[in-house]
Amino acid sequence: MPWTENVASTMAQRLKPWVISLLAKLGGRAEEMRLKAYIVGGFVRDLLLGRENEDLDVVIEGDAIEFIKSWEQDGCRVAIHKKFKTGTIVFPDGKKVDVATARREFYEYPVAQPSVSSDSLKHDLYRRDYTVNAMAISINCSTWGTLVDYFGGRQDLKKKLLRVLHNLSFVEDPTRVIRGIRLEQRLEFTIEENTFRLLVNCIKGGLVSLLSGVRLRSELELIFKEDAPYKIVKRCTQIGLWRSLFPGLNPGRDTIKIMRRISFFKRRLSGDLPSMAGADWLPYLSALVSESHRDGMLSVLDRLHVSDKERAIVIESIDGMGSAEHILGGRGEKPNSRIYEFLSKVHPAIALYWAAATNRWRVRRRILLYLTRLRKIEPMLIGRDILDLGYREGPMIGYILKGLRNARLDGLVETREEEIEWVLKNFPKMDRK
Ligand code: CTP
Repeated sequence: MPWTENVASTMAQRLKPWVISLLAKLGGRAEEMRLKAYIVGGFVRDLLLGRENEDLDVVIEGDAIEFIKSWEQDGCRVAIHKKFKTGTIVFPDGKKVDVATARREFYEYPVAQPSVSSDSLKHDLYRRDYTVNAMAISINCSTWGTLVDYFGGRQDLKKKLLRVLHNLSFVEDPTRVIRGIRLEQRLEFTIEENTFRLLVNCIKGGLVSLLSGVRLRSELELIFKEDAPYKIVKRCTQIGLWRSLFPGLNPGRDTIKIMRRISFFKRRLSGDLPSMAGADWLPYLSALVSESHRDGMLSVLDRLHVSDKERAIVIESIDGMGSAEHILGGRGEKPNSRIYEFLSKVHPAIALYWAAATNRWRVRRRILLYLTRLRKIEPMLIGRDILDLGYREGPMIGYILKGLRNARLDGLVETREEEIEWVLKNFPKMDRK
């Protein structure tokens, strides 16, 4: 029998009202359909730790496909993967829930048994990585808030321990090694002794290095989405993970220093930094390879199957550092237009890397000024206004607007009237109709 405990009051205290009402709605429907529904995984772990998590993973004992389909009548969009008996429900307000069928590995059970859970839930949870991630909470109205814990996850959570459910866990899925280190550092937990031994053996035995480039890449992206990736990178070095994954990779103190700065900039300037649309992880990746020889760097990029565009961003981040320092450095005044002209030609992920990697504070200050302010500056006049001033349609208009932006960047114009005056003065009559 599993350990059970009612955590309804913890849910009421800690969850946002929309989460509670969504879970209650899902549980109500499950009850009507004589199914059992549970919220599982990282959501449960984080609820009990008091950490925010809005990734809703629901497991159904019974037919999840019927359950998912039933939401179509409520105006939800649903996606179904028949083969895995899983799917996603997207509610009209955009909230998303992943739903899976609890795997029944041995034999079928009658649904809606009197007990809170049956073996199919136990089997489903047993397939998971760490005990703290292998707990479920019932969301059916009749058993709302019952925590189901078969493997001691609650105790491990209290002791801040990461423990695998069985000795073959890392063999079944070596990405759990990387997930484990990520969780250890994020939650400030300890990897339990036997688990740590298995984890190190998995690295030493070369199992982690068998992971495909695609899976490795997605694990790296997850590391670089954390608040403090440098801690994870440091820990991976300590455990020998990098050496095993990428023989030419050599992240040392400089890498850590650069990563700390990237995280700091992201945290402090988050609203002001440009969106990097999928390239967010590249400044960190550049930092990771920054201390390696060229061959080492290129073999990491090959191994991760990065796209040509991503590859070019990383290479330019490393190779262009010298000229960035040369052009953006110097004691004297540097016109903003000059900073803009240089940095607007590179991807913001490169500029962010340079800001973090340089040890020259003037260079860093100028790049951050560009990323947070200069890049957004536009003249008040638009092409139409220039035409209205009597200039001919054609490339000249773009040229004038560019000059006007530079004038604005350098503080030569402020108002619309000053812009008009500036145009007429700098592009005299011969350029007009
Ligand atoms: N899981 C697993 N093995 C993996 C990946 C995931 O057993 N290699 C299980 C874990 O139980 C995990 C759940 O699937 O809790 C959901 O996966 P995911 O959303 O990736 O993990 P979270 O634990 O929610 O982690 P995070 O907080 O980083 O999102």
